[in-house]
Amino acid sequence: MLHSTHLALAATCLIGLSACGQGGVETSAPDGSAKAPAAAPSAAEQQALLAALPAPYNTGDLENGRRQFGLCRSCHTVVEGGPNLTGPNLHGVFGRTAGTVEGYRYSDALQTAGFTWDAERLDAWLANPRTYLPGNRMTFAGLADPKKRLDLIAYLKVESGFEPGAAEAPAADPASAAEAEL
Ligand code: HEC
Repeated sequence: MLHSTHLALAATCLIGLSACGQGGVETSAPDGSAKAPAAAPSAAEQQALLAALPAPYNTGDLENGRRQFGLCRSCHTVVEGGPNLTGPNLHGVFGRTAGTVEGYRYSDALQTAGFTWDAERLDAWLANPRTYLPGNRMTFAGLADPKKRLDLIAYLKVESGFEPGAAEAPAADPASAAEAEL
């Protein structure tokens, strides 16, 4: 749902820029130095997203989080629309029901977990995936250092398209209205 909403909003933005308001997604740097993929947030945008995270994640070190994600990279992508590798794509993981990325074949353990990923659950999962959800197939020993997990989770929130406030107040779905206009 989230995705179609974004697509619809993006389409609306292309047609009438005034309709985008502050919700619009910046696709190029103002100085024209946009060599990176269009969707990648600038460093300033990343810092703004970081600052908006709930404590203690707003104190996370994104650079260290990026380094920690090196432990995950061989099995996971985090960019929007990124492929499933050995593990599922992690874009939008926060607020998503465990075991539900389309086209990815999960273990029974993850398919029937039934919970929604949030920072606390991810923290426990990353500390020790094997004991957190026995029978799952993620071959990862765990990240024992809480500070490394904090930095990694902050990084994942910023990189995975987490929207501050979305968890507390799900926005009314504007997709139908936007589609009606098209
Ligand atoms: C060796 C490969 C591998 C590594 C390394 C790995 N994962 Fe995974 N991950 C998997 C697999 C496989 C699954 C699916 C497990 C299942 O179905 O039981 C998974 C599942 C997950 C899930 C659940 C996703 C969902 O849709 O419910 C999360 C979150 C996750 N991994 C995060 C991470 C993070 C963060 C790291 C780095 C600290 C990491 N993983 C490292 C292979 C890996």
